[in-house]
Amino acid sequence: MAVNPQKIAVLGLGYVGCVTAACLARIGHRVVGVDRDQFKVDSVLGGRAPFFEPGLEDLVRDGVATGRLSASVSLAEALSDADVALICVGTPSEKNGNLGLDQLRRVSEEIADLMPGRTKRLIVAVRSTVYPGTCEEIVLPAFGGSPLVAVVSNPEFLREGAAVKDFMEPSLLVVGGSAPEAVRQVADIYSGLDVEPSIVALRTAEMIKYACNAFHAVKISFANEIGALATELGIDGAEVMDTLCRDHSLNISRAYLKPGFAFGGSCLPKDLRALVYRASRLDLKLPLLESVLPSNNAQLDRAIAVALELPGDHIGVFGLAFKENTDDLRESPVVLLLETLIGKGRKVRVHDPHIQLGEIYGSNQRYIMNAIPHIGNLLDDRLDGMLTWADHVLVAQKPSPEIRARLEASGKPLIDLVGALSPMVGRTAVSV
Ligand SMILES: NC(=O)c1ccc[n+]([C@@H]2O[C@H](COP(=O)([O-])OP(=O)(O)OC[C@H]3O[C@@H](n4cnc5c(N)ncnc54)[C@H](O)[C@@H]3O)[C@@H](O)[C@H]2O)c1
Repeated sequence: MAVNPQKIAVLGLGYVGCVTAACLARIGHRVVGVDRDQFKVDSVLGGRAPFFEPGLEDLVRDGVATGRLSASVSLAEALSDADVALICVGTPSEKNGNLGLDQLRRVSEEIADLMPGRTKRLIVAVRSTVYPGTCEEIVLPAFGGSPLVAVVSNPEFLREGAAVKDFMEPSLLVVGGSAPEAVRQVADIYSGLDVEPSIVALRTAEMIKYACNAFHAVKISFANEIGALATELGIDGAEVMDTLCRDHSLNISRAYLKPGFAFGGSCLPKDLRALVYRASRLDLKLPLLESVLPSNNAQLDRAIAVALELPGDHIGVFGLAFKENTDDLRESPVVLLLETLIGKGRKVRVHDPHIQLGEIYGSNQRYIMNAIPHIGNLLDDRLDGMLTWADHVLVAQKPSPEIRARLEASGKPLIDLVGALSPMVGRTAVSV
């Protein structure tokens, strides 16, 4: 049961709105669902779900019977006593793929039209999926800066077919906004559920919903492409993916899921190339896997563009190997970054704690001397030497805590290519 029952108007009684309204009533809130579709309103008032969704009919019937759930075609009636308006209208695709925001625009204007004369505060929480920036660009302006209205993003993550269960046992609760009490009040709506709210900025909340859906789509396509290749090779793709999923350290984990620098090294580029090439020999199209190296190159290009825009003459680079704690330079994206900078006439010095020309030996030393002597000449064995010389420092590798402290203490602008330094207070950190 909800800890603090609230009065909630749910705007739109489609899949999201109707499930949300019925579930909120179940956990103790007083809910009025609004839809311009009389059939949906009549269904709810009659204690029936307007569409099939497992478990929904019981919740609607119980909600109406307890008096906590009601429905109306009148927005004015639903909003008159509401603390929170949860917007659940549709945001369908337009022909060009853009998001259709007509329903959102219209419902925002309809709410705004009802504000004159109102004395009670209203929190407008957008549960519909909207592109980052939409709340600020479409919903907020509709209220013309009224101090009575706070706009919050509260994206929905339920899946049709399991929507009631997903609502009651949420895997994620995201609330974003700039008015802390409004954000807290929306998070409190779900306080009867076993989930820790993630409180973020307005645009971040909108973006998280897109990141989740994109991630799910990428996961499905990845599994399908691995499955398709496995089938061609007479291998059980399900067994491959089941086994992959048993690794909770590198595979099903946070590993590799933070924005940072391009990947490199002796394995990932080589093995992806081989996989894609061998699949093409089987006439097998794997567009997702084929796009990974181009995507990686694009990330490198973004880093290069940032570096080329730096105003100073002297660019220091921390890190040469493709990641920390190795002296392996094979396919290090930093080498490509440096070659571009030198080619464009920039003065560059590089420090990598594990690549000291006097100390490395064997294939790495030969590689530097023979394959990239022009890069070897840029190496500075002393971090402080590089820092003193540089106008700006590109951090292209995750530093140890000790080196991080020295980088930060240098007072030089640090351009964080790897996402290792932020958040830094009062420092220049740029992520690509
Ligand atoms: N369906 C899902 O599984 C799912 C899951 C998560 C998020 N979402 C997102 O949630 C939003 C809603 O999705 P849905 O599937 O419930 O859409 P839907 O089309 O089923 O329902 C939208 C409802 O809003 C009503 N409506 C539109 N404008 C209105 C207005 N001005 N006043 C009153 N009612 C109005 C429509 O009549 C309709 O019943 C979308 O942004 C969608 O992307 C959907």
